[in-house]
Amino acid sequence: MATVVEADFTPGIGMTTTQAPFIEEAKRQGELYIVQPYTLYSEENHDTWRRLYDRMLPQWEKYANEHFLAGIANLCLDPNKVPLLDDVNKFLNPLTGFRAKPVSGYVPAFQFFDCLRNRDFPTTITMRMASKLDYLPEPDIFHDIAGHVPMHTDKAFADTLVRFGECAHTAAVIAKEIKDSDEQVRKLASIIKAMARFFWFTIEFGLMNDRATGTIKAYGSGLLSSYGELEHSIKSPDVQRYPVQLEWVVNQYFEIDHYQPLLFVVDSFDHLFSLVDELEIWMKEGKLDNVAPGEPLVNDEDLRSFLEAQLD
Ligand SMILES: [Fe+2]
Repeated sequence: MATVVEADFTPGIGMTTTQAPFIEEAKRQGELYIVQPYTLYSEENHDTWRRLYDRMLPQWEKYANEHFLAGIANLCLDPNKVPLLDDVNKFLNPLTGFRAKPVSGYVPAFQFFDCLRNRDFPTTITMRMASKLDYLPEPDIFHDIAGHVPMHTDKAFADTLVRFGECAHTAAVIAKEIKDSDEQVRKLASIIKAMARFFWFTIEFGLMNDRATGTIKAYGSGLLSSYGELEHSIKSPDVQRYPVQLEWVVNQYFEIDHYQPLLFVVDSFDHLFSLVDELEIWMKEGKLDNVAPGEPLVNDEDLRSFLEAQLD
């Protein structure tokens, strides 16, 4: 846990993305898992949360899947203030065992998935700049808490995330058994790419059939935290929406800097869970060793995180 001392900073100084001295200091000290220094949020940070929440609420009511809406109700988020993670966890933890765990920045891939396996969700605690309500390339607390965490209140969804974390363990075991180091890196990079694509097209940008209304609703957090893209993902004729197919998803590259032109639809979270099971079977059969090239790139830190993983 971080030794970064909150008292070193002026209350209200701000916890704004790329401009938070507390986060810079945590990174300088090499602290990834930190505390949330709540008093440092500025009035502008709270106001940004309020504006984001206000304009998303009617969009969620129209386009979010029922499990997300139940999650929003169950978490009792304050529309007017940046959430205190301890408060969020008081409502979240009894439901599924998940906890939002504050982090100072990027979590290498294996550690990220391993946190999910342990029902911890690495959570960004900075807030986007007030001038950038619509788009930011990196996650912030609105994306993580208002976009991801409501889904973590749902048992089937939470179990799917845990299952995904178990797949990362399987990937690490498979990689460690490959003796030739070039082959090891090549195959592992392909498996991580496949996992990242699966995560992107489901957990981040997934759509779901809503049988009750005969419509499609969003469950992906990238959609649920984006005012413009949520409606676009459901309504726009420019978006291709297809029933999810594992062989397509793991071979499909994506770009993060514009609205997604291609989205995949699942039937239910039980369906999603079964796809993660299948992903692991494919991994064991070597069917993820040579996925199509392209985004996302797998960096050295991600590779190392798997190769150096302590497996229990
Ligand atoms: Fe996300």
